[in-house]
Amino acid sequence: MRKILVTSALPYANGSIHLGHLLEYIQTDIWVRFQKLRGEQCTYVCADDAHGTAIMLRAEKESISPEQLIDRVNKEHQKDFAGFHVNFDNYHSTHSPENQTLSNAIYSALVEQDKIASRSITQAFDPEKELFLADRFVKGTCPKCKAEDQYGDNCESCGATYSPMELINPVSAISGAIPIEKESTHFFFKLPEFEDFLKDWTRSGTLQDQIANKLSEWLDSGLQEWDISRDAPYFGFEIPDQPGKYFYVWLDAPIGYMASFKNLCDKRDDLEFDDYWRAGSETELYHFIGKDIINFHALFWPAMLHCANYRTPTAVNAHGFVTVNGKKMSKSRGTFIKAATYLDHLDPEYLRYYFAAKLTSSVEDLDLNLDDFAQRVNSDLVGKVVNIASRCAGFIHKRFEGKLAQRCEEQALLDQFINAGDNIAAHYEAREFGKAIRQIMELADLANQYIDEKAPWVIAKEEGKHAELQQICSNGINMFRQLITYLAPVLPAMALKAEAFLNTELTWDARTHLLLGHDITKFKAMMTRVDLAKIDNMLEDSKQAVAAEMQLGKKVESLASSEAAESGFEPIAEEVEFDDFAKIDLRVALIKNAEHVDGAKKLLKLTLDLGFAEKQVFSGIKSAYQPDELIGKHTVMIANLKARKMKFGISEGMVLAAGPGGQDIWLLEPHEGASAGMRIT
Ligand code: MSP
Ligand code: ZN
Repeated sequence: MRKILVTSALPYANGSIHLGHLLEYIQTDIWVRFQKLRGEQCTYVCADDAHGTAIMLRAEKESISPEQLIDRVNKEHQKDFAGFHVNFDNYHSTHSPENQTLSNAIYSALVEQDKIASRSITQAFDPEKELFLADRFVKGTCPKCKAEDQYGDNCESCGATYSPMELINPVSAISGAIPIEKESTHFFFKLPEFEDFLKDWTRSGTLQDQIANKLSEWLDSGLQEWDISRDAPYFGFEIPDQPGKYFYVWLDAPIGYMASFKNLCDKRDDLEFDDYWRAGSETELYHFIGKDIINFHALFWPAMLHCANYRTPTAVNAHGFVTVNGKKMSKSRGTFIKAATYLDHLDPEYLRYYFAAKLTSSVEDLDLNLDDFAQRVNSDLVGKVVNIASRCAGFIHKRFEGKLAQRCEEQALLDQFINAGDNIAAHYEAREFGKAIRQIMELADLANQYIDEKAPWVIAKEEGKHAELQQICSNGINMFRQLITYLAPVLPAMALKAEAFLNTELTWDARTHLLLGHDITKFKAMMTRVDLAKIDNMLEDSKQAVAAEMQLGKKVESLASSEAAESGFEPIAEEVEFDDFAKIDLRVALIKNAEHVDGAKKLLKLTLDLGFAEKQVFSGIKSAYQPDELIGKHTVMIANLKARKMKFGISEGMVLAAGPGGQDIWLLEPHEGASAGMRIT
């Protein structure tokens, strides 16, 4: 039996899980379930990545403590993952005692080995917030091409790189204050001293070729020391004996893998921490990650582990990014789809299947094409796989009291199904899930052909063909059982239903013995077709969820890069043409009525009077206003927004409001000389 420890990247605790993230957790979960189905000891751990400036700022915006924020998000994340059947053996947090102990120990080992340097550096500092500003938190005009509104590290217009203080008119993206330069001591991990080690390690079969090649370019051009400290205020672990200095979130984040496992070992007798982490351990360790965080996992992390005398990963498996309908996930198109929004409309196994069918072992991006998604799930799972069982089960029930035939007269055909398992297993093992699925669907075609040819519905009407009918249907059911065994890592809920129907436990090895003279139970529908209308509803809901967040002035998660996610900076949305802007008809409206909406947590129903027309608008401002306070006020509304059907009724516009959310949402209220219907220019 192999002993395998598997991780997925730890999601940041300041945002919701979306379909992009899910590619990774579904990919990992399929791989882990496959190993377990084969009888290996495979352990899957994860945690929330709870530290960093972004989380600190987000908590501040919501007027709660970082601890409250990360507790809430941790629960939300676990619920989302469970909704998609992602089955962690442990889900922890990097803000945990285990992680602090391990981080301190590893840091001390690095200090002992003389791999930590310290020196003073000058950085941009926000004098209002009294906060050092990471490059992405400073914005200003590019010193080279004069493009406005550029980040402090490089210009998106001309590609120039510079330091934030070189920007013309720099401002802090957090407070709008003009940053000053300030000095402070930082600690650095001496990565260049690991160059030889890393050259070997990255070429020892631990990485995909494409990635090893990329890294070798970096290794050849020379490594830099890595800044692992941040100054207070920071939400993280204070560095031992260095008051006011904290570990940079990326130092303790991967140690969070160990900490989550340690936490699990303390709960279980059959797992030993050292067994999996001591140097020279023969257990296997795999990290599944996205392509954006390769340097952290394939350079800093193995160097730290090696230096602190722990084992290094067996492999780091990187995947590409999810696009939707061929484009980057977008808030305005409604394709920035959160896990919870998807689950309101669609079956999680549709997505698991679609991702599996398209996944390879490469770092290529994966497109979720929603038409193709519906078509594929309907034709493969509903049309082919489930169909096999439903075509045969009825006869077994009605004519044979639920009992399958004693013998199989098509052994050669069934052997074909059983023997294909080796190849399918090799594809799963190599993360070539698409190839595995293709082969499984070829078998499903074969099974349907068999049933078409034998036409049990015809045989059933003929005299003296009783035994033949049982034979055909039993073969069909046995073929179905092979298929669902192979699909079980991808479709765990359907596999459970199939286990109940087949009255047997599915394991990879059990499939080699056919079900003969075996009782099955009544067939119940295992999966329904994807309903296209539900996809549309999901997109519409996504748009509204985003609009509601924007209206609340809350940070909407940026997909741009994990760096942006870490920075917590809310990027300005895509530019619009003046013509598009001019299409918006802003009007002064009198709030004629405001009332609570039954069952709505955030919404108030407003009746807005434009003088010449009345509009009904649902607005997410309930946390800040009582209906009574609003009646009689003037506000500004987008009067020509297309009416949308929301859960509670039709909404015919939007009112403008600003603020960080919660109780601080300010409606725009024109006071002097405003009259309803007035156009705003
Ligand atoms: N907190 C870090 C990881 C620390 S691991 C010690 C982080 N968090 S994240 O929430 O931004 O991303 C979590 C994982 O989801 C990463 O592996 C990232 O690559 C992946 N994805 C985030 N958006 C994605 C897509 N749109 N598509 C595919 N994967 C994506 O990075
Ligand atoms: Zn420029």
